[in-house]
Amino acid sequence: MAKDTPQTFYLKDYTPFGYDVESVHLTFRLTPETTRILSRIRFAPKPDATDSTFFLHGEDLTLISARIDGQAVTPDLVEGGLKCEVPGTPFTWEAEVEINPAGNTALEGLYMSNRMYCTQCEAEGFRKITYYPDRPDVMSTFTVRIEGDEPVMLSNGNPMGQGEGWAEWHDPWPKPAYLFALVAGDLVNYAGAFTTRSGKEVELNIWVRPGDEGKCAFGMEALKKSMKWDEDVYGLEYDLDLFNIVAVDDFNMGAMENKGLNIFNSSCVLASPETSTDANFERIEAIIAHEYFHNWTGNRITCRDWFQLCLKEGLTVFRDAQFTADMRSEPVKRIDDVIALRARQFPEDGGPLAHPPRPEEFQEINNFYTATVYEKGAEVIGMLKRLVGDDNYYKALKLYFERHDGQACTIEDWLKVFEDATGRDLQQFKLWYSQAGTPRLKVSEDYADGTYTLTFEQSTPPTPGQPDKAPRVIPVAVGLLSPNGDEVRATEVLELTEAKQSFSFDGLAARPVPSILREFSAPVILQRETTNAERAFLLAHDTDPFNRWEAGNALAKETRVTMVLDGDAPDAAYLDALEKLVRDDDQDPAFRALVLTPPSQADIAQTLHERGFTPDPQKIYDAAETFAQTLAQQLETSLPRLYAATTADGAYVPDAEGAGKRALNGRILSLLTRLDGGDQAARQYAAADNMTQQYAALAALMKAEKGAAQSQAFFDQWQDDRLVMDKWFALQIACAAPEKTAATAAALTRHALFDMKNPNRFRAVMGALAGNHAGFHHASGEAYQLLADNLIALDTLNPQTTARMCAAFQTWKRYGTGRQSLIRAQLTRIANAPDLSRDTTEMVTRILDA
Ligand code: BES
Ligand code: ZN
Repeated sequence: MAKDTPQTFYLKDYTPFGYDVESVHLTFRLTPETTRILSRIRFAPKPDATDSTFFLHGEDLTLISARIDGQAVTPDLVEGGLKCEVPGTPFTWEAEVEINPAGNTALEGLYMSNRMYCTQCEAEGFRKITYYPDRPDVMSTFTVRIEGDEPVMLSNGNPMGQGEGWAEWHDPWPKPAYLFALVAGDLVNYAGAFTTRSGKEVELNIWVRPGDEGKCAFGMEALKKSMKWDEDVYGLEYDLDLFNIVAVDDFNMGAMENKGLNIFNSSCVLASPETSTDANFERIEAIIAHEYFHNWTGNRITCRDWFQLCLKEGLTVFRDAQFTADMRSEPVKRIDDVIALRARQFPEDGGPLAHPPRPEEFQEINNFYTATVYEKGAEVIGMLKRLVGDDNYYKALKLYFERHDGQACTIEDWLKVFEDATGRDLQQFKLWYSQAGTPRLKVSEDYADGTYTLTFEQSTPPTPGQPDKAPRVIPVAVGLLSPNGDEVRATEVLELTEAKQSFSFDGLAARPVPSILREFSAPVILQRETTNAERAFLLAHDTDPFNRWEAGNALAKETRVTMVLDGDAPDAAYLDALEKLVRDDDQDPAFRALVLTPPSQADIAQTLHERGFTPDPQKIYDAAETFAQTLAQQLETSLPRLYAATTADGAYVPDAEGAGKRALNGRILSLLTRLDGGDQAARQYAAADNMTQQYAALAALMKAEKGAAQSQAFFDQWQDDRLVMDKWFALQIACAAPEKTAATAAALTRHALFDMKNPNRFRAVMGALAGNHAGFHHASGEAYQLLADNLIALDTLNPQTTARMCAAFQTWKRYGTGRQSLIRAQLTRIANAPDLSRDTTEMVTRILDA
């Protein structure tokens, strides 16, 4: 289809496939450039079909032959697949196709990564393997035979036999094609075992390239913890005798939940203290849990169509967040998630790419694996849980698994389960799934005669295609503090349902200080007139850790916004509050590290934009520098002591406690480096025996432009480790001063180890470029141009990763006219590139239409 007439798919057009698929048999004859796939599929016409067209999806396939019930047929090859005349009774479809895994740089379908065959079928990649009804509501059992000379050949389910040059697998659980997987190559396994609570023995393996066996232990433990947690908390057991995880180097996403054969980007499973930071460990634990949890929320119960994606992703993100909170620290996890939500989802929801968690149309589904579907999808479930209460939540989930096991479901099915389990009407709540945009919640207050009244007004700005929004159900968790800091009202969840609504608290002895939106009980933007004194009070006294952090965060933002707008010096009261907190050894180090972490420059830009100002990235950068320098000076006398006190002794353990201490220590080191010229950082670099401390030291030195020697040493030490080299590439760009950022990134794209075809490496460089706020938005426009050049070049190889990275431009309308016209020129250049993919075309068109 021509690129100026892209096809749009609509939720309202859903029609079931006209045939049941009773069984699927696949034979793979593997060779790098000419793999043959033979399919034998049993179809049965549905008696009640509304549409009996026999259409099978297929892309980039060479059809060798096709048969129905043994008789050769000549199907109609049409755009995106084939059509064929078929009998009105059950029949066997057989096809032989040829594909080229070695030439598949899109990393979708069957491709080769580092001499290893692997697959990625979600969302619509199976159609690049063979002709098939490639839609999630078509579920079937798969039997797979792999022929080739690879030492290890894996597919879903259980092994049925193997011999010289072949292996056979059978997956007894009916599944949609997007959960199909095949891996073959020279791999070794790190083995483990788990006994389910009903006594089933499960064999566990993490498959890696020879040499990486030493980086599997942490992932294996994470897998066992996940299996146990899902039994304990949700009552869900694993359902096969074998669970395999494979690490691959070239992967568009983080990881994939294929039934019994999860495939992971090696960055999301391989871990060792020497090569991985605390943040890496935490992410690996979370993503292993996430993919494992999909076995029930995604695989046993899947999605009817891709519009329902948040049914599995929102729920599974919610579940993995619960898991991380249980394994580590609940408040720290919540704060981290809210920071991420504001950094990724709020800009999406407030810009040209805004869409509801359940979109109603798309051109390329790969473009809808978004922060809104994932993170806002998870927030919506968090609100639901808060509204119905914990007991009702688990009651509803139990009903969900009983009622829908083995089915392909919708958001309606999901909400119905909650309605039936709780008797609650969720009609209005459902707006969270259909309306885009972040609600603004304006709060005003009144106090008289011992009665305190909070008045809330909600409104949501227009988003593409949705000019007007109806009021939603918003759970607002509120507590009240007395002026002396005692909590006079424990947390209570107020349920907003109207555009404007008041709630009163009586019997108070004095005007209270409110703590509103505790635990960030709803993904909204709170707007309330308050003072820095009150924020400092909450930072010191709130009993809700999230809101304590939030008060500090608000203070930090106010200070920085005032510095940018008025050129003021940093707020002295805020600096004092910070100093007090940093020195308070009774406070959790991880919490102190979070309060000491300044809001990102992009966050300040967003805040300015929300208040009607045009952000100037250079001014925002300067304010950040001045602030950090002033804070370092204020803490001057205590920094060396704090550094010493927070330096962990003993062996490195990647747990929450150790990570919290190291996070605080790292923050202190970065401040100290502003004063001591890098002496302490150089000592830490030289002594570090783990990547967290080595990396923190290198980052501090590079930020101070004192790290040339260490950067070279780091390169020499780690040049053969792809994952560590990704850090080396990214760090140089992240630490570059604004005027040097584009040149630094450009030079790195010419480095011998830069590799466009490896998404991790491409993202390390281009992601760091887009993530350096002042550097990316430098007035020269060089960074915009460099990113556009690289996106155009990557699009011909890997549309999916290209399209995702276009989001770097989504906030363009908030900047001044100079930057806007520079960005528009680059977006237009991308849009006009010859043979631009459907993926990237959709993204740039939507962004330009802002
Ligand atoms: N099902 C997805 C992987 C996926 C995404 C496949 C897009 C195809 C297209 C997987 O479960 C997932 O969500 N992975 C996330 C990480 C997770 C921890 C949120 C990822 O890959 O980023
Ligand atoms: Zn997922």
